Amino acid sequence: MGKKILELKNLTKRFGEFTAVNSISYSINKGEIFGLVGPNGAGKTTTIKILTTLLPATSGEANIGGYDVTRNASKVRRIIGYVPQMLSADGNLTGYENLLVFAKLYDIPSKEREQRIIDSLHFMGLSDSAGKLVKSYSGGMIRRLEIAQAVLHKPLVLFLDEPTVGLDPVAREAVWEYVKVLAERGTTVLMTTHYMEEADAMCSRIAIMNKGNIAAIGSPMELKASIGDVDANLNKVFEYYSGKSLESEEPGGNFKDVSRTRRVAKRLG
Ligand SMILES: Nc1ncnc2c1ncn2[C@@H]1O[C@H](COP(=O)(O)OP(=O)(O)OP(=O)(O)O)[C@@H](O)[C@H]1O
Ligand SMILES: [Mg+2]
Repeated sequence: MGKKILELKNLTKRFGEFTAVNSISYSINKGEIFGLVGPNGAGKTTTIKILTTLLPATSGEANIGGYDVTRNASKVRRIIGYVPQMLSADGNLTGYENLLVFAKLYDIPSKEREQRIIDSLHFMGLSDSAGKLVKSYSGGMIRRLEIAQAVLHKPLVLFLDEPTVGLDPVAREAVWEYVKVLAERGTTVLMTTHYMEEADAMCSRIAIMNKGNIAAIGSPMELKASIGDVDANLNKVFEYYSGKSLESEEPGGNFKDVSRTRRVAKRLG
């Protein structure tokens, strides 16, 4: 595959005595959809927060498009898009208004703003809802709007932290399709997910994190082969490397996800 666009070297994050990310190293090539999976608390969001310049690393390095995330943080911010695990759209604004906020934030020239917003609403299938308040949107529409916000400035790398959590299967597949098209057009994607069938279908490569470490890394096929069962589904690979069953991780099924969904609903309500 093509050239490296993101590189991590011995990246480490400690919170006091606790090591959330333990000297991880890997690289991601342009146009890849790279999956970060692992049990709750594995260090996925912490890794993404370091890469998006929101959290300083304790040690180690990371660079995106050749820019160091610590030394060149402002350059990095211009070439990345980020959809956080928590809600990032404002329920009291319309879809269009939310995008306008981001267009200004990203310094998109005022002459180009309107067209760019119209195009991205169209691309994400939200044209008909552009003038409606986001608090009236479905979960799937909100996720699509958040992705539209994050790619308005045409970033090189898009970070998606659990983009489909809490969505029904139809809404989930719609999000997958949009993300795949973005990747086909050259955007590199780093996403986390708890849905193994999603990781299997979407990702060119996957890193399985466990307790801050990379337990395994490779294409879905390589990971299956590594446990000696190319016909295995990815749940089995996940269980093998994390020592955990996904039963307890099932999104939407545990308290964490319910409370997460509730928090989103509360903020929108
Ligand atoms: N600001 C912080 N202070 C102290 N500990 C933290 C902080 N942020 C995260 N942690 C801890 O670091 C670990 C990794 O958290 P992180 O959010 O990266 O996990 P995750 O893999 O994204 O999990 P999930 O699947 O639940 O989203 C957890 O044990 C968490 O409690
Ligand atoms: Mg997380």
